[in-house]
This record gives sequence, structure tokens and C-alpha cells, in this order.
Amino acid sequence: MPRSLFDPVALGRISLPNRFVRSATWEGMCDQQGAPTDRLIHCYRRLAKEGVGLIISGYSFVSKDGKQLPGKMGLHDDTLIPSLRELTNAVHQEGGLVFCQLVHAGGQTSSKVIGTTPIAPSAIAFPSYGETPREMTQGDIRAVIEAFSESARRARDAGFDGIQLHGAHGYLINQFLSPLMNQRQDLYGGSLDNRMRFLLDVYAAVRKAVGTDYPVTIKLTASDNLPGGFAMDEALSTALKLQEAGMDAIEISSGTSASGDKSPVRQKIDSEETEGYNASFAHMIKKNLHIPVMVVGGLRSCAVMQRLLWEGSADLFALSRPFIREPDLVNHWRRDNSHRATCISCNGCFKPGIKEGGIYCVVNRIESRNSAPVI
Ligand SMILES: Cc1cc2nc3c(=O)[nH]c(=O)nc-3n(C[C@H](O)[C@H](O)[C@H](O)COP(=O)(O)O)c2cc1C
Ligand code: SF4
Repeated sequence: MPRSLFDPVALGRISLPNRFVRSATWEGMCDQQGAPTDRLIHCYRRLAKEGVGLIISGYSFVSKDGKQLPGKMGLHDDTLIPSLRELTNAVHQEGGLVFCQLVHAGGQTSSKVIGTTPIAPSAIAFPSYGETPREMTQGDIRAVIEAFSESARRARDAGFDGIQLHGAHGYLINQFLSPLMNQRQDLYGGSLDNRMRFLLDVYAAVRKAVGTDYPVTIKLTASDNLPGGFAMDEALSTALKLQEAGMDAIEISSGTSASGDKSPVRQKIDSEETEGYNASFAHMIKKNLHIPVMVVGGLRSCAVMQRLLWEGSADLFALSRPFIREPDLVNHWRRDNSHRATCISCNGCFKPGIKEGGIYCVVNRIESRNSAPVI
């Protein structure tokens, strides 16, 4: 039997009902403390009900100095566990599975948001942020590793089915990996082994906190898509080390906020040729690893995902923007796999997340306004 997008897939000790994953998506729907609102719970319930095999939460901060955008989910405090449990219960009631994505923004935030100077491996400003972060001391590094492990423990206690470390898109783990952002002279900088030390230390602390049976995964950057940045050969070595350490699955993305038209959230995905823009990276990783590989970035049609599956480029297919526009996409594809996701990759959904207390598809909004009956 040829493999299908609707096959169940084993991930660590759990089984996903199909190969479709909602890639981590900041929704901007949490309160000031980072607790999910009813609107967020409704959003996750709907995705679970509509057959998404695995929902990965929006990036959730592990400590207050790791926060970035407003309305972000918080895992930094035990008091949040009851409200997070309401979220995971809603998903489970619909028969779904949900992982929590853990992040520290590092230098990709501002003192306006966190109330103190941002921290990073080196005191180098991101072009899009302007503010020069403070170089982390050994004590800062230990504190952030501890924050990741405590947050992972909270995620498990709140009923999440697994966790995903955010090791992409220019955030702290990516900053340590990247020779452009990490110019440290100590054990955490220089050679690739040193640059990956922070990630491996985070992983080891998280694994210790949640135990061997609990799924721990990563969204790993395959490339900064910048001259002199972290690149594919280093990503492959990092992925192999993570597999050896016990990582359960790897999602492949690429780019940072500085990568221009090669950013993680690319526009102009208007043909099968422009779809799946991280697929060649994922293929390289999958060829060399035995754990499940997930690919994200511009996936819009079953024909392309089916081909990538058969070519051995990925086991799982993660989508973000298409589920904002069409939360019922998986069930739609179950009925009609010739349907192409209607998301036009305009990135208009970010703005209402900042300005209106939650993301939505602005194209849907315009279309429904235009089709309102004239009385
Ligand atoms: C509104 C929005 C919020 C996002 N938030 C996150 C996030 O919290 N964590 C993350 O890893 N990626 C985040 N992303 C990136 C997506 O997960 C994904 O990697 C990217 O959008 C490409 O996939 P797509 O073409 O299916 O949208 C976000 C993207 C969008 C559009
Ligand atoms: S606003 Fe709508 S169409 Fe535009 S990227 Fe977001 S989901 Fe897609």
C-alpha cells in the first residue's frame, strides 16, 4: 500500500492519527500573564474537531525576559497550570493532541516589552530590533536552562501531550547556534560543538524534567539563510546529535527576521513550484535520520505533500497560515484532496494579533464583508 497523508504516525510513545500538523502559531489570544483566553480555547477546540493530527501551541515564554509579542502564552509560572489545563482538556475532548512550543526570545525582543535589557549569547543587535542585548553570563545561561526545564514540567502537568523546543527563526536557541549571533569565547561559542552546547544542555534538562516516555521535539532551523550564518551542514550535524541524545522528532524550518525574502514566513506561494520551500532541507535531514521529520513552510496542496512523502522528504507536514484561513482544512482534504488551500500568503493575519487581541484571516474578513447581502 502506498503511504498516505492520512496514515497514523508514531512519534515517540504516542501515535498521531494522520500526518497533518498545525505548526506553532502565535495567536495573540492570551491575557497579560500568559493564560489562554476563551477565544484561544475555542480556536484549539475547532482545530482538533476538524481533524488536525497534532496541534503545536503558539510559542510560549519560559521566563519573563524571554517574552516577545503581546498575547503570548506563558509557561513561566505554576499559577498558569489550571488555565492551561482547560486548553488541553478542550483539545482532548475533541479527540485531538496538543504539544506546547517553548521559547526564549533572547535578543529578539525589546526592553519596552520585558522591562529590562534583553539577553543574548553576544551583545549583537538584530537589524530588525535595533536594541543591543546584554551578553549572557554563565549564571544567565544556567537560569534559562532551568526555566526551560521547569516550563517543560509545567507543560506536562497541564496535560500537553508533548513539547517542542523552538530552535529556529532567530530566537535564543538559534542565536546560540548561529556564528552571526554567537561570538562568545567560552564553552558556548566558537566551534559547532560549542555553539550547540546550549541546545543540548536545554534538551538534557528538559528530558530530565519530563522523563523518557514523554515526547520532546524541536523546530530546528536548517539555515539562517544569511551569508556566514548557520547552514545546512551544521544543521545536519546538530540533528544527528539531537537524535543520539533521544529527541523524538524534528520539524525543519529556516530563516530569521533578517533573511528578507527567505524569511520563515515567505510570501508569494502561488504555484506548486513555490510550495514547500524547506522541503530540500528536510530531505537532507530525513535521509540521514531515523526519527520522524516534519517539514513546514508554504505547504498548500495534497499533491505536493504526497509527492514529498513518497520521495522521502518528510513524514509529517506542518502548516500555519492555511489553518488560520481554513481551520477545517484537514476534513476538507479528507473529502476532496484536489482542493488547494486558499491562503494567499499575504501575512495580513499578524496585524490583528497585535492590534485587536488575536489573529484572524483578514482576507476572509474582507470577502465576508463584500458578500454581505445588500438590504
Ligand atoms: C501569525 C503567525 C504566527 C506564528 N507564530 C509562530 C510561533 O509561535 N512559533 C513558530 O515556530 N512559528 C510561528 N510562525 C511560523 C509558522 O509556524 C510557519 O513556520 C510559517 O508560517 C510557514 O508556514 P506556512 O507557510 O504554513 O504558514 C507563525 C506564523 C504566523 C503566520
Ligand atoms: S491573512 Fe489570510 S490569506 Fe493572508 S496569510 Fe493570513 S491566513 Fe493567509
